[in-house]
Amino acid sequence: MEQLSQVLSVALNEMKLIASIHDLEQLKSRYVGKQGLITAFMQKLKDLAHEERKAFGAQVNQVKTEFETALVVQRDAILAQELNNKLANESIDVSLPGRGCGTGSLHPVTLALNRVVKIFAQLGFAVADGPEIENDYYNFKALNIPDNHPARAMQDTFYTEAGNVLRTHTSPIQVRYAETRTPPIKIVAPGRVYRVDMDATHSPMFHQMELLWIENGISFANLKAIIIEFMRKFFEDDSLQVRFRASFFPFTEPSAEIDIFFSKTGKWLEVGGCGMVHPKVLNYMNISSNEYTGFAFGFGIDRLAMLKYGITDLRLMFENDLDFLTQFKGL
Ligand code: PHE
Repeated sequence: MEQLSQVLSVALNEMKLIASIHDLEQLKSRYVGKQGLITAFMQKLKDLAHEERKAFGAQVNQVKTEFETALVVQRDAILAQELNNKLANESIDVSLPGRGCGTGSLHPVTLALNRVVKIFAQLGFAVADGPEIENDYYNFKALNIPDNHPARAMQDTFYTEAGNVLRTHTSPIQVRYAETRTPPIKIVAPGRVYRVDMDATHSPMFHQMELLWIENGISFANLKAIIIEFMRKFFEDDSLQVRFRASFFPFTEPSAEIDIFFSKTGKWLEVGGCGMVHPKVLNYMNISSNEYTGFAFGFGIDRLAMLKYGITDLRLMFENDLDFLTQFKGL
């Protein structure tokens, strides 16, 4: 009996030091398992005399019960401790700043394009569209660009295997739009255009905007007025100087190139071409050149965006560099 109570007190002392359920299970089987130290006392019963057996049996049972009760208490304590540890580790610091979710921003070309379209909408122009893969007829022939014109040369134009072209300008949209309509025609047509060219001021893909106004009595004076008005609105400068230089385009007659005076650099900069729609082109549009006149104007949107936002290298526009692009946030 003395041995038994000694085993129990050792067992209870060991138990107090246990901190995991796993170790507790091992302790349990070491004492009350099949070959357990307390179980062993049960097996000793059969060697005892009848009258001793009863008292000793009761004693062993009591020890066992005491052990198992302590086991339950210790298990609860371990579980409670484990839960507390978990809660302490998983706690959330609600005062930490959030991770934030960045909003995007419009590309400078899109910003410029939106400005341009808005200004022309105020002047009564509707927006028109056309395909980027164009055929020879709309890109060249119907614009009175003869077969031997340099603009058709391989170094300028991207050709597809099927013999189409990536449009080299937005002018084909003029013909596509006008051939099925009768004047008055008053459109702006923005879009991507392609030429075999690449350096700090040229990209093989760039953006143009075409303007077309065909109506009874439209003259070069209307052309000048619209372009000057547009440039001054776009650059938010009421005294911006705009210069028209006599030039040549197969699809306009007379034709001019347009320069603006850029006061930051003190230099004239070319921004586009324009002219009165050539009678031959009006014919391709199924519009009588006796009855109607019109003007066309084409310019690079990227160039305007660069001037407006102070960008010096065109290639920056098409590199998708976030450090560059996020500078235009909120414009
Ligand atoms: N399409 C011409 C170009 O890309 C620009 C232009 C448009 C000129 C309309 C005159 C009239 O260079």
